[in-house]
Order: sequence, then C-alpha cells, then structure tokens
Amino acid sequence: MLLQHPGEYISGEEISKRLSISRTAVWKQINKLRDAGYEFEAVSRKGYRLVQKPARLDPITLMSTMKSNIFGRHLKILEVTTSTQEEVRKLAEEGAPEGTLVIAEEQTGGRGRLGRKFFSPRGKGIWMSLLLRPDQPLSCAPQLTLLAAVAVCRAIKTATGVESGIKWPNDLLIGGRKICGILLESVAEDERLRYCIAGIGINANMTEEDYPEELRSIVTSLQMESGQAVDRSVLIGSVMSELEQLYRLYQEEGFSPIAHLWEALSVTINREVTLHTSRGMVTGYATGIDENGGLILENGGEKFTIFSGDVQL
Ligand code: BTN
Repeated sequence: MLLQHPGEYISGEEISKRLSISRTAVWKQINKLRDAGYEFEAVSRKGYRLVQKPARLDPITLMSTMKSNIFGRHLKILEVTTSTQEEVRKLAEEGAPEGTLVIAEEQTGGRGRLGRKFFSPRGKGIWMSLLLRPDQPLSCAPQLTLLAAVAVCRAIKTATGVESGIKWPNDLLIGGRKICGILLESVAEDERLRYCIAGIGINANMTEEDYPEELRSIVTSLQMESGQAVDRSVLIGSVMSELEQLYRLYQEEGFSPIAHLWEALSVTINREVTLHTSRGMVTGYATGIDENGGLILENGGEKFTIFSGDVQL
C-alpha cells in the first residue's frame, strides 16, 4: 500500500482495516520491512510514510511493479551466482513453470553470445534469466531472441525515457555503446523446443569507474546516459510486461509483427555493415531480416542471409 502511494501518509488504522489485521500486527510488519531495508517515517495522527526502498532488489518491491500475469510471477532473487542461466536451467529440469524468473545481484561467471564473458558486478545492473516453454520447433528459437530485444528496448524507453537501438541480432546500443546484451539458450528434443532461457543483462546504474579499462569505450549505462539512477525494480517490471505482451502477439500472429517492430528499432538495417562470421569478414548493405531472424545483405547485386556473427558498425 505504501509503495503504491509514494510520499503519502497512511494511518495505522487504515492499514489495519484494509488488511483485516490488528494495529499491533501492522506495527510488527512495519518493523519486519525495516529489517529488510525499508525506511519509514511514523508521525502520530498521520501514520506511516515510505521514505526509502531497499537499495537491494527485494521480492516485495519487485512484485509491486509487476503488471504481467505469468512472466516474473515465479521469482527467485539471489545475492550471487555463477550465471542466472544455470539457475533457470536447473529449475526448468525440475519442472518449473513458464515465466519463472531468476535475478542475481552479481554473477561471477556471466555468459554472453559466442562464448564471451559478460561483466556483471554487484548491485549495479539487472542480470536475469526467464524460462519460456514455447510449443514450437527448434528453428523458431532465433525469432524469440529478436522478440526479447524488441521487448527490452521498449521497456527501457517506457521505464526510463532513454532511447536505444538494436544491433543485429540482439545487442541494445546507445550512441554505438552497449547498454544490454541478450542470450537465448534452447533445449530441444526431436527438433522441438523443450524450453528456452532468455538471459538479459542491462547495464543500469554503473558509472565509468565500475568498468574495467578495456570495456570503457564500448559500453555505457542507463545512469550514464540519463544522468540519474534507474529504479531497477520498475525496469524489471516493465521488461516482464513487454515480454509477455510480445510473446502473446507472437503466439497469436506469428513472427511477422515482431519482425516489423524489430526493423523499426534496428540500427543495423538500411546501412552498409561488416560482420565477423565463422567464415571470415562479410560486407554488404543490410536490407532486413528474414522469417528465421537471419540478416539479409546485398552486395554487388547478390543477395544473401547471415545467421550468426558480430556486426561492426
Ligand atoms: C551478450 O551480450 O552477448 C549476451 C549477454 C547476456 C547476459 C545475461 S546476464 C543474465 C544472463 N546470465 C548470463 O550468464 N548471461 C545472461
């Protein structure tokens, strides 16, 4: 209740009535929340006012920001883990439902695409993995990767006002520097997806000093771009809503509307690009993406599609 009315006093009597609990029980719950890092001001005849939320991610604040019905509703928050991808993989094998979300304050072995490491320091960013159980063939997995990029890009705009663009297939950039990376890992049986793990890493509240020297010229953070700290809980809630809405759209209407949204947000389309691929450097004019999420290039009248690689802008 106090989270939903920021800055306002709510009397102990009002809270006890609305929750059908005694005034003593209200006082005990307030103290429990204080132990969890919340700060309240208590003024006689006015009531309680929330002054400060805990700096750490906590389930109460997070749940209050979630507007999604399924995504993020099964939630695990960890102080530290090797990789949230591994945590979700274990839960998936134990039968966890679609929409299960694991978030960590810190990852000691954060993973990126193409076997790279992903820098995930404590308390500064959003390092999370979401379990999806699409009833689709394995070949659809790249479409879900692009869907996730669109969802995060839209969520960042809604929650912070910051505009980012998508570099194929799914890096989010601001002014050419990386703000978010997405890693979609799939487990399949007989060419059908058993489950997918959508790993999302958002550079939220880092400052330049938080990054090792070698990353400083290629990354940025939402705080560095907007000049203010981002409320990580609000942004996570927004990502869950966008992902859930686009996932439903995808299930109802297929990949075509997602591809249009992706192209509109892309910084790779309608320009000359060079890619590092497993077969070496490839250059061409990027005209769009195909139905499998591959990047369509044109060079000297020849048209071809690339499925994996790293775009140099
Ligand atoms: C990339 O930039 O290549 C993808 C980075 C994906 C990072 C996220 S952070 C949460 C999840 N856990 C990981 O180990 N990786 C993903």
